[in-house]
Amino acid sequence: MKLTPSSLHDREHPETIRQMFDEIAPTYDRLNHVLSFGLDRRWRQKAVELLSEKRGGSFLDIAAGSGDVTLDLGALQPRSVVASDFAFNMLSVFRKKLGTGHRGGVTLVSCDAHFLPSRDKIFDGTIVAFGIRNFANRLRSLQEMLRVLKPGGISVILELTQPSFPVAAQLYRAYARWGIPAIGRFISKNSSAYSYLPSSISKFPDEREFLALMTQVGFTSPVSTPLTFGAATIYSGRKGIA
Ligand SMILES: C[S@@+](CC[C@H](N)C(=O)[O-])C[C@H]1O[C@@H](n2cnc3c(N)ncnc32)[C@H](O)[C@@H]1O
Repeated sequence: MKLTPSSLHDREHPETIRQMFDEIAPTYDRLNHVLSFGLDRRWRQKAVELLSEKRGGSFLDIAAGSGDVTLDLGALQPRSVVASDFAFNMLSVFRKKLGTGHRGGVTLVSCDAHFLPSRDKIFDGTIVAFGIRNFANRLRSLQEMLRVLKPGGISVILELTQPSFPVAAQLYRAYARWGIPAIGRFISKNSSAYSYLPSSISKFPDEREFLALMTQVGFTSPVSTPLTFGAATIYSGRKGIA
């Protein structure tokens, strides 16, 4: 399928999203750091910190892409980490980072976040960073996260969001409209992908709606933590013991 701006705006086409990430994989890491002024690293670390009570456990990184969250999970000395994504080229970038030798308990799995190829109640924690915004069916993906968690396990979701503080919101709007597409086009040569980015952020539910969705799925007492004036938000929720 040919990528066009209109096809990229249609979340109902996972195949289009997968193809987009396959195309931008070679420049993904560099653009991520440039576009976020390097803040993406700190945001991922903060998200991983929310799993620290599960230190030494088993974790699933969903939509792992080029693997930076999986690498950050190393700080928790995990028993095992599964890194999953449906874009082959993104996982290839990660495989190169890991090297050909020792992978320290990391398993790479190619799969769709809506259909995790895992038995129930396997993981102490799941995490998805900058991925859920792209999923065609967020409810379904949250149900999958809950299903694969052990009772008492924690799911963490980090996502780009629109700042709500007045000055930050204005600055962000200008940056999203002009800065992100221009820088994205310059570095990746893919203008559709980096027009899609601000558009997908603007369509992501606000904190109240997303917490309601997590509650609807069955997470107990989900919480949200805005980062950098709301430019990113971490959500976390727990699976009940019963
Ligand atoms: C913005 S990247 C985030 C990558 C990584 N988590 C990070 O922190 O940089 C989004 C990733 O989500 C993956 N993705 C999007 N929709 C997906 C789906 N339905 N199932 C699996 N992976 C998906 C893409 O292939 C891409 O690698």
